[in-house]
Amino acid sequence: VSLKNFNTFGIDAMARYFVEIAHEDELVELFADPQWQQTARLVIGGGSNLLLVNDFDGLVIRMNIRGIEHRISHNDVFVEAGGGEVWNDLVNFCVAREYAGIENLSLIPGSVGASPIQNIGAYGVELKDTFVSCKAFEIATGTFKTFTKADCKFGYRESVFKNELKEMYIIVSVKFHLSLIPNINTQYGAIGQELASRGITSPTIKDVSQVVSHIRVSKLPDPSTIGNAGSFFKNPLISVDEFKAIQLKFPDVVNYPAGEGLVKLAAGWLIEQCGWKGKIAGNTGTWKNQALVLVNHGGATGEEVYSFSSQIIDSVYTKFGVMLQREVNIIN
Ligand code: EPU
Repeated sequence: VSLKNFNTFGIDAMARYFVEIAHEDELVELFADPQWQQTARLVIGGGSNLLLVNDFDGLVIRMNIRGIEHRISHNDVFVEAGGGEVWNDLVNFCVAREYAGIENLSLIPGSVGASPIQNIGAYGVELKDTFVSCKAFEIATGTFKTFTKADCKFGYRESVFKNELKEMYIIVSVKFHLSLIPNINTQYGAIGQELASRGITSPTIKDVSQVVSHIRVSKLPDPSTIGNAGSFFKNPLISVDEFKAIQLKFPDVVNYPAGEGLVKLAAGWLIEQCGWKGKIAGNTGTWKNQALVLVNHGGATGEEVYSFSSQIIDSVYTKFGVMLQREVNIIN
């Protein structure tokens, strides 16, 4: 089976086996057959955060469990969504009903089930801010387990599902705690500027959602026309001492405080300073408006994108002494 339509990078890699799951019970049935316990697995939702470097000699499980339920109690709104729901459909569902909390996460590609795995975030808000729990299938036992927020050990683009529990669970649904009383978050500079330029002084969550969508569309390539997986690298966290040394040589270095003794650098800035912004290299390259995003200009192979990303890592390391880490899941 070709995976071309199941990854937003548009890489034409093949899967030996492929199954689509539309209901929880189908996971139980699938893994009741012991052969699948032994086979290499790749679970995908929207396929928006992975790079398929080679063909996948195993079973690809595409999660497509749908459904959104919501319950209101006073000003609290509890929403539970199937893992296969498109993330932005959930955002639109909530924004349309004035359920506040995830409007800053508008237009992030991917599925609800994938959202806790890397604690998706944008424009000053992260998934963990409204996350209550998720239900996941435990592959080894064929049973379901609930993970609370604490269980998930969320960090910057991190969770337990990328670390100690990697590949052991499949998320089937996620519960959120939203509110009828909006807590408008415009701390991220670009949102404030765009609202001001529209003359909006007391924004609603609909305004925030529209402004975020507008900024994303103007900066990020649309995967339906230009293959990509969003930010390819994480913004690196470095120590204050390392930061001071860099700032001495590069006074303009874009940075954010990141907690005790730590500074976060803008990887897109580092990459741009190395001359990579908008660069085309064969069928791949970096995006012209955002150097942190690698793109498939058509017909790129996973290996081509991967080796291009290695060149960027080397070049940023040579110039700044900072080692970039890939944010996208590399599937070998
Ligand atoms: N910058 C440059 N050159 C570039 C790109 C960025 O100089 O080519 C500078 C910008 O001028 C700005 C700073 O870097 O000062 C930050 O840029 P931006 O606001 O575009 O955000 P980012 O840090 O590059 C992160 C997330 C995005 C998220 C945005 C908005 C990561 C790895 N990426 O990008 O998330 O949408 O902030 O919150 O944390 C994703 O994870 O796939 C993703 C798109």
